[in-house]
Amino acid sequence: MRFERLVRSSVREIKEYIPGKSIEEIALKYGLDPENIIKLGSNENPLGPSPLAVEAIRNWAGKVHLYPPSNALELRSAISEYTGYPANNIVVSGNGMDGILDTMMRLFMSQGAETVIPVPTFSYYEIATLANGGKPVFVKRDRDFEISHKDILAKVNSNTKMIFLCSPNNPSGNVIREEEVRKILDRTDAIVFIDEAYVDFAEDGLSSLSGSVKEHENIIVGRTFSKAFGLAGMRLGYAIVPDWLSREYMKVMTPFSVDVLSIASGIAALGDAKYIRKSIETVKKGRVQLTSGLESMCKVYPSEANFIMIDVAPRTAADVCEKLLRIGIIVRDCTSFRGAGDSLIRISVGTQEQNRRVIAAIEMIL
Ligand SMILES: Cc1ncc(COP(=O)(O)O)c(C=O)c1O
Repeated sequence: MRFERLVRSSVREIKEYIPGKSIEEIALKYGLDPENIIKLGSNENPLGPSPLAVEAIRNWAGKVHLYPPSNALELRSAISEYTGYPANNIVVSGNGMDGILDTMMRLFMSQGAETVIPVPTFSYYEIATLANGGKPVFVKRDRDFEISHKDILAKVNSNTKMIFLCSPNNPSGNVIREEEVRKILDRTDAIVFIDEAYVDFAEDGLSSLSGSVKEHENIIVGRTFSKAFGLAGMRLGYAIVPDWLSREYMKVMTPFSVDVLSIASGIAALGDAKYIRKSIETVKKGRVQLTSGLESMCKVYPSEANFIMIDVAPRTAADVCEKLLRIGIIVRDCTSFRGAGDSLIRISVGTQEQNRRVIAAIEMIL
């Protein structure tokens, strides 16, 4: 096309982000009743949203003609109370943690700059690096998807701007040991981005890694309202950062990026302790249910997130996922995750009934 040449060459090389499939898409493709489809492919909250968040959205719906406060101070103060960090150390995004990643990339990346990414992991780190003119440098995880500080640091050079550590990792579900992270933080001048999208579901709860923000000037701890807080549709994310970084972030973030309804629902969800407790309990119980139901049929990796990952070799993930889709069960084929091979499947923890259905279906297929 005539105008395609105007797109930056680094962007033209990016492979499309592959999201989890939607209920509408699958209902249409396989002629299924949407009501009978279960969606366990995008790590959403099976309980639905917090009732307090829904009430807040209703209450604020009549005020959407007004701009929100540009610095989202009330929301940042509520997050500050929840995390124990001053509001000055909290930055927010109205496009989920993806938006935080994007803004950070705009801050740090330039032509020739590198990021270090242990794979397989969340694919947006790679896309955001390329989209901002940088070069992603990959480190392969070991057979259990662990990473060592030595392997990571071996890839760091004077061009390295950011290192991405996802804990619990998507799609493998394992956490990075704290001493490994500390060794990386201590021994590098690059920014270490710790993605804690799933940390609420980890055995130790909110990690003490965020404590490193007080001790290090090169750490970002990314979090989201999309998982434990059940607000994936509102697209709200935040990060805990050192003072200097918070000032730089505010300079380049999109003005008014967090909308009125996201602010109101985020504050309400943070205050709904009962809902948060229940969503974490549901996931922890469901994780056990899925693991014990599936482990006699295939390898199940231990997970501290709201999903589990299974290996269906010698079958391929594509084959098993397709058969599940035909009967209305959406899970995630991990083939599109760089370095994941072709036999891994990620299954989000659902309600007891959804978990039971997925176990029975996989039993039938395998
Ligand atoms: C590891 C990880 N980080 C970040 C995100 C993005 O989350 P958000 O919905 O806040 O953009 C996801 C989404 O699934 C994720 O899996």
